[in-house]
Amino acid sequence: MSAPKREQWNSSLGFILAAAGSAIGLGNIWRFPYITGQNGGGTFVLLYVSIVLLIGLPVMYLELSMGRFSKRGPVGAVESIAPGSFWKFMGYLAVITGIGILSFYGVVAGWTVWYFFKAVFHGFPSGKTNELFGEFVASGPHQIALLYIFLALTGGIVISGIKGGIEKVSSILMPILLLLLTGLIIYSMTLKGATSGLKYYLVPKSSDFTKTTFIFALGQAFFSLSLGMGAMMTYGSYLKKKENLVKAGFLVVIFDTVIALMSGLIIFPVLGGAPQKSGAGLVFVVITDLFTKLPGGRILAALFFLLLTVAALTSTISLLEVAASYLMDEHKIPRKKAATIVTFITFIVGIPSALSLGANKSLTSMISIGGQKTGFLGIMDFLFGNVSLALGGLLLILFVVFKWGIKNTEKELFRNSEKLKYLRYILRPLIWFAAPAAIALVLGFILFTGKTLS
Ligand code: PFF
Repeated sequence: MSAPKREQWNSSLGFILAAAGSAIGLGNIWRFPYITGQNGGGTFVLLYVSIVLLIGLPVMYLELSMGRFSKRGPVGAVESIAPGSFWKFMGYLAVITGIGILSFYGVVAGWTVWYFFKAVFHGFPSGKTNELFGEFVASGPHQIALLYIFLALTGGIVISGIKGGIEKVSSILMPILLLLLTGLIIYSMTLKGATSGLKYYLVPKSSDFTKTTFIFALGQAFFSLSLGMGAMMTYGSYLKKKENLVKAGFLVVIFDTVIALMSGLIIFPVLGGAPQKSGAGLVFVVITDLFTKLPGGRILAALFFLLLTVAALTSTISLLEVAASYLMDEHKIPRKKAATIVTFITFIVGIPSALSLGANKSLTSMISIGGQKTGFLGIMDFLFGNVSLALGGLLLILFVVFKWGIKNTEKELFRNSEKLKYLRYILRPLIWFAAPAAIALVLGFILFTGKTLS
């Protein structure tokens, strides 16, 4: 294979921060707490953390290794390792999944922008943040305009190129987010229901375990770590040969998981137990109400939503980058045109999601998933954010085991970390048995029993 010339990260810190930027986003702060609330609290958290370490981390290593080895995104990576094979559909699935996720993610990301401006210009009505959220998401024009704004912002950054755009944004703002979250945790620990909230959040109860707990925990792990659709593969493709993949991948997984857990540490003490009604609005309703009680709350709220906007942006950039780099690498379309095409398609696909939180009745309540009435956005989230990512992860493992070869993968993974090579004795059994078995089990449930869907 002739190595194509490719942009590269300036430093390994730049890569880690950008990859962490992709991983850390609405998945941690918006999705994790409400999915945890819907799936039994402590039991879910325990399962989630186990899955992150036993399945997420190995898959992260596979993606990064394959990306750096081939210097391509998912379609090109498969093509360069197994030219002309049917495995290429795995790459296409990744591109489609990226667009599918971005289409609804962009809607929620739009909320962060609106909440930022709301904090700056009006503040939030104490005790009424629930109504505020309901009215806001039911306004079609708002939802579509915000989706458009957010996607345009994402497209603009992707067009500006990888180094200038992504690296800088991630490296400056992530540490501030960490600080703000720490402050909010400390405050929420002082609230009245904190202990019972923490108990619900952190103590597993076997009675809370259901089949859906497993599916949602797996889906959430992939979603949060940006795995299963080639985002990390694409980022890995910009990584220099001399960087230590083992360390970089590990740090990204740890950062991401810590931020998700922190988000729960804010929300559950405030709730004081299981959320009464946990849905997509949970964090927006609870956090804004918390801010109304804090001195200087409006400034803090503005800062929080600004940081959340940026966290979402560094994730949407990676979602867009996968499809855009496919057009650039495989169809030789220039970066600007490629990013514009993908942005436009995603906007169109996103419109029904934008209208599915009250603006349009039939899009708002369509089917029941895991016992929850779900609209178009929820269905997109379930299909692309859970099922498709898990499927992508499974295919990736199968590709590595049967096509690329575990030895080749290890050669790339341990290239600059000879001392860590013994880790392959842990990694191999995970890749061969545990990870595919777990993922296949979940997909089997979804595809063949259908029970999980009601
Ligand atoms: N990991 C991002 C989050 O937690 O918000 C979402 C995401 C980004 C998922 C990129 C998948 C992906 F490829």
